[in-house]
Amino acid sequence: MKNPEQEIPGKNVVEIQGLWCHRGNLQVVKGLDLTIQQGETVAIIGPSGGGKSTLLRCLNGLTTFEKGSIKVGGESLLSGGKTPANKLRNIRQKYGMIFQDYRLFPHKNVLANVMEGPLAVNGARPEQARQLAEGLLERVGLGQFGNRFPNSLSGGQQQRVAIARTLAMRPAGLLCDEITAALDPERKGDVLGLLAELKAEGLTILMVTHEMGFARRSADRIVLLDGGTIIENGPPEQVLDRPRSERSHAFLKGVLG
Ligand SMILES: Nc1ncnc2c1ncn2[C@@H]1O[C@H](COP(=O)(O)OP(=O)(O)OP(=O)(O)O)[C@@H](O)[C@H]1O
Ligand SMILES: [Mg+2]
Repeated sequence: MKNPEQEIPGKNVVEIQGLWCHRGNLQVVKGLDLTIQQGETVAIIGPSGGGKSTLLRCLNGLTTFEKGSIKVGGESLLSGGKTPANKLRNIRQKYGMIFQDYRLFPHKNVLANVMEGPLAVNGARPEQARQLAEGLLERVGLGQFGNRFPNSLSGGQQQRVAIARTLAMRPAGLLCDEITAALDPERKGDVLGLLAELKAEGLTILMVTHEMGFARRSADRIVLLDGGTIIENGPPEQVLDRPRSERSHAFLKGVLG
């Protein structure tokens, strides 16, 4: 799973400067700056509609932006949706995005879901792809589930297949959008435990989450996004226990109780 990019700690792997992005008639991201270093786990928190998903989608080229600059894993995304397709492919391969609703192929079994990326995008040989997929399913605790179809698995199991599928692209980092939001507490624990292991292995993880316990324990940094800008950005204890503004204080009081 090691990617050459993982070998250089301290290097900036995400650089966002002056990002502006609208959705429909709404200006969702308003001049946002953010830098993420190799190997960091950054939890993005904030009120609903604050722009968290939009920010992650911009980083993966799923949403276009009108102003500012974004660099991901050394590749620049261009405003106005002008990023060339081969660059987008590189970015998505290096920084895979995982969603709350898994998005597995329902008509393919679990093994085929995980093999799909290496076969279709990386040009792996079937036997190579199979070996890689079997190893990754073992890795996420689903070694026995290769022949099953997604709709016969629990939500937590499907989410772990989605993680294995992303890992099959040998990413340097993961962009996770509320990937435990639909899971019951035990399954949540499984998926968060897996993320903590991947962090320990050196992956860079950028995750939108409402799991404040996990954010406090496992994130290196918490970013609080509200109204399209970052209103807090620092180590968990600083952001959660000593927020700078009234607005952050009010939000955190609501989520931390
Ligand atoms: N395709 C779209 N068309 C129009 N407006 C959109 C679109 N996608 C998002 N928005 C709006 O952009 C704003 C930010 O949405 P976004 O999904 O980034 O918020 P979020 O912080 O992820 O919220 P949540 O915590 O509820 O997931 C919201 O007001 C949303 O309604
Ligand atoms: Mg969202």
